[in-house]
Amino acid sequence: MLETRGPVVLPALLLCDFGHLAHEVERLESAGAAGLHLDVMDGRFVPQLTYGMVVVEAVRRAAKGPIEVHLMVEQPETCIEEYAKAGADILTVHLEGLSDPRRTLETISALGPRAHLAISPGTPVERMEPYLDVCDGVLVMSVEPGFGGQRFQPVALEKLSHLAALRSQRGGSFLLAVDGGISTETIAPVAAAGAELIVAGSAVIRTPDYALAIAQLEQLARGAA
Ligand code: DX5
Ligand code: ZN
Repeated sequence: MLETRGPVVLPALLLCDFGHLAHEVERLESAGAAGLHLDVMDGRFVPQLTYGMVVVEAVRRAAKGPIEVHLMVEQPETCIEEYAKAGADILTVHLEGLSDPRRTLETISALGPRAHLAISPGTPVERMEPYLDVCDGVLVMSVEPGFGGQRFQPVALEKLSHLAALRSQRGGSFLLAVDGGISTETIAPVAAAGAELIVAGSAVIRTPDYALAIAQLEQLARGAA
């Protein structure tokens, strides 16, 4: 599915019109979105409180394609089973919030979803290395988690390049993902650094024509990959 198409844009719903959620899902999928990115925030791991299981289930019912659930919550291990049941195809957990990352990633895989491990801008990429063998994907945050529409932090580029190099040295198969501050200016550098799943919130949702925004971003990514 996602791995066969080259770099793809996953629109983040965070800034969409939640009063017309199913319509937004339909608009994004018919605009060519390869998958959708859902930001679950608990108001404690990050300052903002967004939504939880009920909304993830509603998106699952409305969406035909894959959905990624990006958990920005304290103690994510306590709710992964519920999000797996809610229909996450990818379940992304933050290294900073985990007491036993290996166990949590293995549990996610055993429940069914792909297990992705995320790091915030201040977390050294080396801290992921012991867990790469149990990751289906790694998500490098290029903004501080918590809000859409922030400025891209270039530290993500070094981390992506480092992970891409490790993957080819070790023969790993995890996907490289990036999230935060993606725009027509920043998407080519992240794709050149190796990003394959590229989350874009405001760069898609704050435009009138989702199809045009996704096509332009993916074209720039493919040109650089
Ligand atoms: C930030 C979220 C992102 C956010 C991206 O905490 O993880 O997924 O929605 O939004 P943009 O693309 O506007 O930075
Ligand atoms: Zn996110």
